[in-house]
Amino acid sequence: MILLKKLKVRLLFLTVLSSLCFISISQDASEGEQIFQTTCIACHNLPGGGKLVGPDLKDVLTHDRFVNEEDQVGTLIKYVQNPSDFGVTLMPSQLLDADEIKSVLEFINTYVPEETEELTTEEVETEQVMSSNSMLIIAIVILFILIFALTSIKNTLKKTQDQPTETVSESIIKFCKAYWANYKAVLITSFIVFIIILKFAFDTMMGVGLVEKYQPEQPIEFSHKIHAGDNGIDCNYCHSSARSSKTAAVPSANVCMNCHTNIKGNTDDAKAEIGKIWKSFGLDINDEEQIFDWDKIDTYEQNPIEWIRVHNLPDLTYFNHSQHVTVGGLECQQCHGDMEEKTLGQVATMEELNSQKFNVAGEIKFKHPTLTMGWCIDCHRQKEIDMGSNEYYTEMHEKLKSHPKYKNKKITPALIGGMECGKCHY
Ligand code: HEC
Ligand code: HEC
Ligand code: HEC
Ligand code: HEC
Ligand code: HEC
Ligand code: HEC
Repeated sequence: MILLKKLKVRLLFLTVLSSLCFISISQDASEGEQIFQTTCIACHNLPGGGKLVGPDLKDVLTHDRFVNEEDQVGTLIKYVQNPSDFGVTLMPSQLLDADEIKSVLEFINTYVPEETEELTTEEVETEQVMSSNSMLIIAIVILFILIFALTSIKNTLKKTQDQPTETVSESIIKFCKAYWANYKAVLITSFIVFIIILKFAFDTMMGVGLVEKYQPEQPIEFSHKIHAGDNGIDCNYCHSSARSSKTAAVPSANVCMNCHTNIKGNTDDAKAEIGKIWKSFGLDINDEEQIFDWDKIDTYEQNPIEWIRVHNLPDLTYFNHSQHVTVGGLECQQCHGDMEEKTLGQVATMEELNSQKFNVAGEIKFKHPTLTMGWCIDCHRQKEIDMGSNEYYTEMHEKLKSHPKYKNKKITPALIGGMECGKCHY
């Protein structure tokens, strides 16, 4: 009896202990996550996300630098606190204590990436090529079948009357001659051709003064390809207000200095360009004595870099980024094209946007040049709003679902007020 009681008490003790352990572990990991998301994310992707400025930290203790060390965790802590002791210049010292770094490690070790489904560019491209090419091929095949069928019918009739038969090419030539002789038919054809030419001329004239492909020279030879493309830096890291406010804004020089205090460029050209960021704080990148010190930032003479605005809607319009990026769930590329492939900011062309995988997958096809009113409307008519995963819409969704007018319909911005003049015009 006593033995049993003892066992019970022990069991109880064990459960409490283990649950305490569990709580403290998950707390560690969540503290670590916070540190990671605010500090390390500037240069390291989430574990398993691939290289960013720094290496992927997945299974970090098995990396060359730590795998042969006796005290792996201890070495990692020293490394993060003082990378320069390890001959590393690209990663700045992190002001974290040992426990904080352990919690980051805990987060790295327990992190499980969310699964996302994405169409590969190849799939999208083949889908597109299929649709335009196959239509043309089908039309041509039908035309040929028709010609052959009609010719053979004609020949059968001729045979019954004992007349000489014709080959397909003979019938085509005969038809053309007869058509040319008929002035009414010629008149109608010329009229149609004239209208088509007029439409082309009209479209070209309407296109004058449009801003597609506009890419002005900028004070620094900045490259989106090097940053967002090769080094995988998220658009939101630099254009952070796009998610939360009306404008996406161009980053201030402070943001550049998060990295360029240490990254000074491998070539003379790169160093000269990065030097311009330093110069905007009154500092000389070539002077080894000068160190960029965040604590002294208020004392620096600051000359903001004068970036030239690329996108600029007329004052009579209202456009809001967070409404589109956060509420509408759109990707930057759906309106700005492959910025990660370009150097400086540029207004994307309609064709470029139409080949964007997100636009193809979302069945959005622009028929008007970028930044015109027709362009906004094109998308508002076609984009299906994903009401399932957006809390903003839960209540509205329930109402719309039962409304006879919208039942089983694709809900687009147009259906919820996105065509009202006042929404886009002051
Ligand atoms: C300003 C950019 C930057 C920031 C911020 C940064 N790192 Fe790094 N980190 C790097 C670079 C670059 C390297 C690669 C250095 C090298 O090997 O030359 C690196 C390497 C590492 C390594 C070694 C990995 C290996 O396989 O050798 C660890 C561990 C690490 N970082 C952890 C962290 C942690 C934890 C944080 C956040 C508290 C952090 N880093 C913040 C840029 C950064
Ligand atoms: C998150 C880190 C990070 C931030 C923030 C950042 N850069 Fe960079 N930058 C890099 C890396 C990495 C390179 C490539 C260095 C290399 O390859 O030697 C680079 C290279 C450059 C170069 C040299 C390009 C060349 O020709 O090699 C310039 C100029 C530059 N950055 C300007 C900027 C400006 C301006 C900003 C702020 C708007 C900025 N960077 C913000 C990481 C960053
Ligand atoms: C629905 C289309 C759309 C989406 C999605 C979109 N943008 Fe824009 N963006 C625009 C338009 C339109 C302008 C011009 C705004 C103006 O002139 O008032 C613009 C302007 C900008 C500018 C110039 C500065 C400014 O705020 O006017 C930057 C930078 C920018 N966008 C970056 C981004 C980034 C980064 C994302 C993704 C997080 C994004 N955009 C998503 C349409 C879009
Ligand atoms: C390292 C910082 C950085 C990153 C990352 C970055 N940008 Fe930029 N972006 C800039 C700077 C600086 C400018 C101003 C110079 C220029 O026009 O290229 C700019 C300009 C732009 C412009 C034109 C703004 C205008 O004046 O109308 C657009 C659009 C834009 N970025 C979109 C993006 C998109 C989309 C991404 C992600 C694929 C991205 N950017 C990633 C720094 C960045
Ligand atoms: C690629 C698609 C796309 C393009 C291009 C686009 N929009 Fe939108 N827009 C949306 C989506 C999706 C919503 C729905 C989000 C919401 O309800 O707030 C929306 C909503 C809006 C709303 C709010 C409507 C309402 O009922 O609350 C305004 C205003 C707006 N857009 C203005 C513009 C302007 C101005 C432009 C052109 C410069 C533009 N949009 C281009 C997709 C787009
Ligand atoms: C989805 C957003 C949106 C809606 C809805 C919208 N517009 Fe526009 N409108 C724009 C944009 C963006 C421009 C600027 C286009 C440009 O610069 O080429 C514009 C331009 C115009 C212009 C030309 C102004 C000029 O200076 O050339 C007129 C007129 C106009 N809109 C009237 C209307 C009327 C009337 C309605 C309602 C039936 C309406 N718009 C609805 C976005 C919108």
